[in-house]
Amino acid sequence: MVQDRLPGKGEEDWYNMPLYYDIVFDQDTSSEAEFLEHVFALHADRENGNGLEILEPACGSGRLLHALSSMGHKVTGFDVSPQMIEFSKKRLIAAGYAPNLFHMEMDSFEIPCKFDMAFCLVSTFKYLLDEKSSRAHLQRVADHLKSGAIYVLGFHLSNYANRESQREEWQGSRKGTEVDCIIDSEPPDPDARLEQMQCVLNVRENNDKKTVRTTWQFRTYDAQQVRDLLSSVPDLELVGCYDFCYDVNEPRELESPWEDVILVLKKRNGKNE
Ligand SMILES: C[S@@+](CC[C@H](N)C(=O)[O-])C[C@H]1O[C@@H](n2cnc3c(N)ncnc32)[C@H](O)[C@@H]1O
Repeated sequence: MVQDRLPGKGEEDWYNMPLYYDIVFDQDTSSEAEFLEHVFALHADRENGNGLEILEPACGSGRLLHALSSMGHKVTGFDVSPQMIEFSKKRLIAAGYAPNLFHMEMDSFEIPCKFDMAFCLVSTFKYLLDEKSSRAHLQRVADHLKSGAIYVLGFHLSNYANRESQREEWQGSRKGTEVDCIIDSEPPDPDARLEQMQCVLNVRENNDKKTVRTTWQFRTYDAQQVRDLLSSVPDLELVGCYDFCYDVNEPRELESPWEDVILVLKKRNGKNE
């Protein structure tokens, strides 16, 4: 089951407004891109010769595809949102890079090429709402990796003991457009394995103000549920674990009740080279 992308009554989907998404998520882009290079050097059984071939499932506004292109890598991305793809394409072309972008879904994508590295950060993986689609996604990624290549997967873990709503709030701005982002998450439902999320973007531009309100659901995971899922995809092996500090000198164990994890999954050698 994949997230229903239609907004509810009176809502707009923030992914239909790539610029605002891009402004609020851009703050960590360079540390994430550098972290990906460091993780590759540490964990992949491959060389970074003249740049890597890199895939980003659900690439969104393409902020990381652009950063990695400027570091000399050959990037490919896909997303379910045509607006996001268009935004990403325009930015790559404006910077002089050839866009390699597709309109596809995480659990069914097919691209006729294999990659040195794939990555999917900021909890995007949790849009896959059930076991079947999350496993299908991991298997698809494994099938698109060269042997010894890695998949870097970052998302928030759920603490089922927590019964309080959580709020994250931050701001971003670019060329006269200011965006406040407030994300509320309801306590996770341990039986349904779902959490309700809401994002409010308060936008100010050209003396204009608007509010974009989006609600969605995420699938929930604690550390054991991650391990169980990974054990069902033997083509990928967990070889490293970090957190959202994006520091390879600070490896972690995959254990609850950590709030966020970045898993490094290596393609086992011998298949689909
Ligand atoms: C939080 S954004 C992440 C974008 C980008 N990866 C980044 O790090 O900035 C989530 C993206 O996932 C896309 N998405 C959600 N469900 C998807 C699916 N089933 N298949 C492909 N893309 C999906 C959305 O359209 C959105 O662009």
